[in-house]
Amino acid sequence: MKILGINDSLVDFSGEGLAIGLFEDTLELTEDLKALDAKLSGLVSEIIKEADFKGKSGSSIATRVMGMGFKKLMIFGLGKSDKLKFEAIRKVAGNMAKAARREKCKTIGVSLPVVNSNPAGTVQAIAEGIELALYKDMRFKSEKDENTVVESASLIGFVGQEAAIEKANIICSGVFLARELVAAPANVIDSVTFADMAIELAKTYSLELKILEKADCEALNMGAFLGVARASDIPPKFIHMIYKPTGTPRKRVAIVGKGLTFDSGGLNLKVGASSIEMMKTDMGGAGATFGAAKAIAQLKPDVEVHFISAVTENMINGNAMRPGDILTASNGKTIEIMNTDAEGRLTLADSLVYADKLGVDAIVDLATLTGACVVALGNDIAGLWSPDDAFADQLMAAAESSGEKLWKMPFEESYFESMKSPIADMKNIGARTGGAITAAVFLKQYIKDTTWAHMDVAGPVWTDKDKDYNPTGATGYGVRTLVDWVLA
Ligand code: BES
Ligand code: MN
Ligand code: ZN
Repeated sequence: MKILGINDSLVDFSGEGLAIGLFEDTLELTEDLKALDAKLSGLVSEIIKEADFKGKSGSSIATRVMGMGFKKLMIFGLGKSDKLKFEAIRKVAGNMAKAARREKCKTIGVSLPVVNSNPAGTVQAIAEGIELALYKDMRFKSEKDENTVVESASLIGFVGQEAAIEKANIICSGVFLARELVAAPANVIDSVTFADMAIELAKTYSLELKILEKADCEALNMGAFLGVARASDIPPKFIHMIYKPTGTPRKRVAIVGKGLTFDSGGLNLKVGASSIEMMKTDMGGAGATFGAAKAIAQLKPDVEVHFISAVTENMINGNAMRPGDILTASNGKTIEIMNTDAEGRLTLADSLVYADKLGVDAIVDLATLTGACVVALGNDIAGLWSPDDAFADQLMAAAESSGEKLWKMPFEESYFESMKSPIADMKNIGARTGGAITAAVFLKQYIKDTTWAHMDVAGPVWTDKDKDYNPTGATGYGVRTLVDWVLA
């Protein structure tokens, strides 16, 4: 897939398909579109009228044209002009790319307006929308896909925006890595193959990499992480990757991802409607973390970034951690296991203690942590918790500009009360209600004083239906927000 900027007028465009955006409020044809309409003897105005096309966002019409340099003309509604945001452009570009594929156009022209008087930002959003939408995972299919592949997209009026296109390419390469990791089943991506991926990534992009083996984790007293890992036949891997800029870093941060390659629930087995068959996605936080690493290593910001995940699976065997067991995390705190299915917070506890010791300016963790967060916010929105409002706002701003839906949740420390244990420092679950909040408050016990935020991404890591630029399956949620935040 190649994306480039061209300055041809619509009438002169040559390719298989031409996709044009039109605003809802005026439905007025631009000068360029008027010229095209004239050349096509009024066909453009005619189909707009006939199809009762109003320019609403999400609506579109397509027609075959004759005597032009292109065969298919597609017109897409942009909604109201004063409401146009980068995210709307990203979505419409994604839908244009999918329409081109449906209409069997190998090469397309895309005509969209500049948003916020920011041509570079606009081009980045268009390119992201196109690439993210056309992503197709064929790794596990034995037969080749015979469908048309869109080979190139020309962004009309955007000559000289190569840097923005390259930035989008890089960010999408990170999103694709996250999608591939999350969508790969647990018999393909396990702790060992996940670590192999990290070794490969570090080699390709010259990143520092430390992989702590089980014995190393034992030496660091990571009893919570190792408690979870006990019933797996596959050795746990604690992965620490580092991107260092040349020169003094402007800031130093750590990104921590929950890396459960599979979550059976353990002895509190996931039964009934608890979606055990979806639990290959329980490393979505780690997927986003290393997807972001791939992008950041190529974008080379003047920020030092640590990428961390304690990778294992939550399984069952004679050595499995039992309900009632007491584990000791690497900061010395003891945890009474009330439910072996609340395992993510255990692996994160030791990851956060480790990250905290790095002396970074800020830590953000991403985790498919609770079903409660999905109940609260649905499948499309992640939850954000932080004791530090200013830090939460930075992440909210990054999410907003990347178009990833994120909602600030209350960091209610008094809920720790329900996690008090008569025999240990805390239980690993709290009251039946507010489960996403208690999970966040649990994590805080493993942070000393570093600025920290937690994102529960259990909902948006996966989508059951193709929507705008997210094809059915793993979304790669988090990568774009993380990259945006690190670069800010
Ligand atoms: N990985 C799950 C959370 C999850 C649930 C992610 C559904 C995606 C979809 C997590 O480890 C878990 O099992 N959480 C429990 C916590 C409970 C035992 C306190 C949950 O949410 O039920
Ligand atoms: Mn679980
Ligand atoms: Zn889990």
